[in-house]
Amino acid sequence: MEMQRVGFIGAGQMATALAKGLIQVGAAEPATLVAADPSDEARQQFAQATGTATTAENLDVLGRCDVLVLAIKPQQLAGVLAQLCGRIPPEMLVVSIVAGVRLATLTEGLGWEIRIARVMPNTPCLVGQGASAFCLGTEATPEDAQRVRRLLESAGLAVEVDEALLDAVTGLSGSGPAFVYLMIEALSDGGVRMGLPRSVATTLAAQTVRGAAEMVLTTGEHPSVLRDRVTSPGGTTIAGLKTLEAGGVRAALMAAVEAATVRSIELGNG
Ligand SMILES: NC(=O)c1ccc[n+]([C@@H]2O[C@H](COP(=O)([O-])OP(=O)(O)OC[C@H]3O[C@@H](n4cnc5c(N)ncnc54)[C@H](OP(=O)(O)O)[C@@H]3O)[C@@H](O)[C@H]2O)c1
Repeated sequence: MEMQRVGFIGAGQMATALAKGLIQVGAAEPATLVAADPSDEARQQFAQATGTATTAENLDVLGRCDVLVLAIKPQQLAGVLAQLCGRIPPEMLVVSIVAGVRLATLTEGLGWEIRIARVMPNTPCLVGQGASAFCLGTEATPEDAQRVRRLLESAGLAVEVDEALLDAVTGLSGSGPAFVYLMIEALSDGGVRMGLPRSVATTLAAQTVRGAAEMVLTTGEHPSVLRDRVTSPGGTTIAGLKTLEAGGVRAALMAAVEAATVRSIELGNG
């Protein structure tokens, strides 16, 4: 696939992570990227992290990219849409990572039916381990899907879903890092309770979560199969698992995803 010229509106954390990722995986060269941001500080940090061009004018980016990424906060979107309205050429793909804003709202704000994708990324994108989901507008082509995938996979994993499922994605992978931080903290507390120094306990807890996640992703096995393999009869693991089941951890995690999804729907309708 040809290298794409990517322009970012907003040169904040997410734009920086995606631009760095694209360069690192060889999907773009610094000369093919550009970012616009009114903040001197954001532009400076973006340029320093990526070695790419920046501008203070959003409209400067339009003539310099094939893929335009909207990487601003939701409250900054209305102003940006008003600026870009009626100016998106038919061959350009717009990718919005603005949390909670629907394809229909974006299309309406940009003036006409355009090639567009909406993305729900998560914070581990900032360290190249994101879990992102995206959906496509009706004008987007299969090649556009590949372009979005390439952009997102430079900062982790990406899956395509229907737009109606993006609230569930928000509840699972969007809010999920916070659920896992809590689990890591609790595992670490258990280690400290049993005598481990805090730094050792937290390192072991975090690496255990990373290792178990890697096992699920690389083997493709169902988690219950992997769990069974480390659960020997009468052993230590089954003793711990019994306690987790008695504490309702499984039901609590399911309910957490449900509650976060419901809240995402409420915020979207608000
Ligand atoms: N960070 C994450 O992990 C994460 C996860 C999921 C979704 N998202 C979504 O991704 C989007 C970007 O998040 P972020 O963390 O990268 O935000 P961020 O670091 O605040 O970046 C946004 C940047 O856009 C700039 N900006 C403000 N108004 C602008 C305008 N009119 N034109 C161009 N740029 C403008 C901001 O400048 P000022 O600072 O001066 O306002 C800031 O530098 C958000 O919608 C967020 O909800 C982020």
